[in-house]
Amino acid sequence: MSAISTVLITGCSSGFGLETARFFLDKGWRVVATMRTPREGLLPSSERLRLLALDVTDADSIRRCVEEAGPIDALVNNAGVGLLAPLEGVALSSVREIFETNTFGTIAMTQAVLPQFRQRRAGVVVNVTSSVTLKSLPLLSVYTSSKAAVNAFTESLALELAPFNVRARLVLPGRAPSTSFGANARPRMAGSTHEAYAAFTQSVFAALGDTAAPVTHTQDVVEAVWRAVTDPAAPMRIPAGADAVALSQA
Ligand SMILES: NC(=O)c1ccc[n+]([C@@H]2O[C@H](COP(=O)([O-])OP(=O)(O)OC[C@H]3O[C@@H](n4cnc5c(N)ncnc54)[C@H](OP(=O)(O)O)[C@@H]3O)[C@@H](O)[C@H]2O)c1
Repeated sequence: MSAISTVLITGCSSGFGLETARFFLDKGWRVVATMRTPREGLLPSSERLRLLALDVTDADSIRRCVEEAGPIDALVNNAGVGLLAPLEGVALSSVREIFETNTFGTIAMTQAVLPQFRQRRAGVVVNVTSSVTLKSLPLLSVYTSSKAAVNAFTESLALELAPFNVRARLVLPGRAPSTSFGANARPRMAGSTHEAYAAFTQSVFAALGDTAAPVTHTQDVVEAVWRAVTDPAAPMRIPAGADAVALSQA
């Protein structure tokens, strides 16, 4: 490992990814901040920062990005998309879109970096899933299954990577209304309604608006990712946020 470590983070245009990139920069790491459409000015300029284009659903984009990034010490699979809708209203193309990003994107990025980790006998993959995999909520069957698959993927993978001194870990954030996650999911949700579930959907949205319920803050996730990357003794699953921690203890 070089004196300064390098992390590659997916989905850095907003939310957890953006703040995680900022945190690692502040800690003196080299950061490869990736996003579908790289935008200057989101992060402070630094000679330790590189912005690279990456769409995790596109094999060519993954190959180019990993080549351009060069050697890295940690991969954080954070890019993800949401969908809160009754299954009957969801087109199979939307199901595929969710899995392509959240599940296959994570798997493809992991495959792309493993050869260098294995050869160097060092490295860590951190996958950001969700506390909805700890306690099921309605209207999230597709999203939850896309993330639960990543939990299972990561826990199995960790076993075969351990002999090579390569680690895999999970960060499970709770609900974080402060990021753009809901807004980014809205267009997909607008096309995924179903008349028979209209009243039920409304009641679920009303419950989500409960401002007294504990939520997750971006900093909770940033710190959980930092721990997953830097602490070899970190547990396999790290809940992030008061709501996620409560669920993990239930
Ligand atoms: N916010 C929550 O309540 C919550 C709770 C639990 C877990 N999570 C998970 O936390 C992660 C980050 O979410 P967030 O809250 O920070 O949401 P966010 O602000 O919407 O950020 C998601 C990021 O993923 C990127 N992305 C989407 N599709 C992509 C693709 N095909 N290739 C590369 N990047 C792509 C987005 O980039 P573009 O600008 O290119 O769209 C964006 O930078 C996600 O995996 C999400 O499932 C969120």
